[in-house]
Amino acid sequence: MTKSTNVVWHNPTVTREHRQKLNNHKGVVLWFTGLSGAGKSTLAHAVEQKLYQSGCRTFVLDGDNVRHGLCGDLGFSPKDRIENIRRVGEVTKLFVEAGIIVLTAFISPFKSDRSRVRNILQHGDFFEIYCDTPIEICEQRDVKGLYKKARAGLISDFTGISSPYEAPTNPELTVMTGTLELTECVDQVLLLLQRRGVLLPVANSNTGKID
Ligand code: ADX
Repeated sequence: MTKSTNVVWHNPTVTREHRQKLNNHKGVVLWFTGLSGAGKSTLAHAVEQKLYQSGCRTFVLDGDNVRHGLCGDLGFSPKDRIENIRRVGEVTKLFVEAGIIVLTAFISPFKSDRSRVRNILQHGDFFEIYCDTPIEICEQRDVKGLYKKARAGLISDFTGISSPYEAPTNPELTVMTGTLELTECVDQVLLLLQRRGVLLPVANSNTGKID
C-alpha cells in the first residue's frame, strides 16, 4: 500500500514530552464509538468543554465534519469506512504527538479498524469509549431524519439497518448514553481520565515542586 519510497524520518527537536510538560497533560485520544444518533458528538463536545475550562489543549474530530473535507471523497461502503477510519487514525496520531487530548466521534463500526488505530498509538494512549444507545432509541431520536430515510430505502448501507455495527468487547469505558443524563456521562469520562493519569500533577509556580 505504501507508495512513498526514499523518505527519511526527521526527529523533532521539540518532542512530545516537551509539549506534554507545557500542557500539563498527556496527549491521548478518547475514541467515541456507537451508532448514528447515539450521542458521540454531544458527549465529545461536552467533555471537551470541561477539559478546556480546566486549561487542557483539546480537539474534536467529528465524523460529519471530517466528511466535509479530508474524507469528503468517501461514502459509506465498508471499503470507504475502512479508509475513513484509517485517515482519521493517522490524523489522531499526529494530534497525540502534538500533546493534544483528541476526542473523536465516528461510528467506526468495525472492530478491526478501531484496533488498528489502537495499535498505531503507544500503549495507553487510546481510550475506547462505547456510547451504548440501543438502535430503538437512536431511531426514536432520529435527530437528522436519517433513520426514517434509511427505512424508506432512500439511504443504502445505513449502520444498524443495512450495514453492521460491531460493538466493542473490551472498551476502556461504556457509557449508557441512551438513558443517562449528559452531565453523568461527562463525569464518567472525566473520572476515567483522572484514574488513568492523563492529567499530570501541577508544578507549584513558587517552589517548582510537584503538588
Ligand atoms: S463511519 O462509519 O465511517 O465511522 P462516520 O462517523 O464518519 O461513519 O459518519 C457517520 C455520519 O454520517 C452519521 O452520523 C450520519 O450523520 C451520516 N451518514 C450518512 N449516511 C450514512 C450511512 N449510510 N450510515 C451511517 N451514517 C451515515
